[in-house]
Amino acid sequence: MTRLIRLDRIHEEPLNRSQGADDAHPMRKVTQQIVESETGWSPERAAKVKELFDGLASEWKTRATPERLVPLLDALDRGGLDGAEICCEVGCGSGVASPILADRFSQLICFDLSMNMLRFGPETLSRAVADASSLPLADSSVDVLVVVNMFLFPGEYARVLRRGGKLLWASSDGDRTPIYLPIEDVAASLGDGFECMGADAGPGCWLVGKKL
Ligand SMILES: C[S@@+](CC[C@H](N)C(=O)[O-])C[C@H]1O[C@@H](n2cnc3c(N)ncnc32)[C@H](O)[C@@H]1O
Repeated sequence: MTRLIRLDRIHEEPLNRSQGADDAHPMRKVTQQIVESETGWSPERAAKVKELFDGLASEWKTRATPERLVPLLDALDRGGLDGAEICCEVGCGSGVASPILADRFSQLICFDLSMNMLRFGPETLSRAVADASSLPLADSSVDVLVVVNMFLFPGEYARVLRRGGKLLWASSDGDRTPIYLPIEDVAASLGDGFECMGADAGPGCWLVGKKL
């Protein structure tokens, strides 16, 4: 049975939030299909997603606000990540979260499907194009894998994490963003091989799953 410990919310949700994406949003459907079945992701789908984010790259950073970083910061504070050194961020986009991770971990490598997105990222960081469904990383090589507003590929993430390594999954804006899953669904998708904790935080939520 999957274990998920829900921590108390300590960062309030901002007031007067607008409605966002719902389950009918095409990207929400893709997010759900990827965790439901291996056929949820394909070269054709990867090409479409890449094209979409290539087109959004130049304005992506304008979506960043301090409050949207609250879930990630809360996860880093309370997610039990002490002692981890090698961090890999997957689906880093234009690097909104990357400098925070670079401060926190001694080694960071960032991957994204979209070269355009990477072009807008911090030049001082290691960045490379890669598809999260097939990462250019050895088995059990990573201490922490970070995915923020990004699809969940449970099998691939489990492959590259070492035993005791942790997946940090964060959603900046919860169900108002298209690429979103409830943390109970994230924990269920990771399955018995992970022990999970998570919380609501600011406008979003996070989960840290420890590979057993
Ligand atoms: C919603 S954006 C989030 C970007 C960043 N993490 C943030 O929170 O600002 C999703 C990012 O994931 C990337 N992405 C989507 N599918 C991917 C895949 N299969 N492998 C790697 N990156 C992917 C997209 O190109 C895009 O940059």
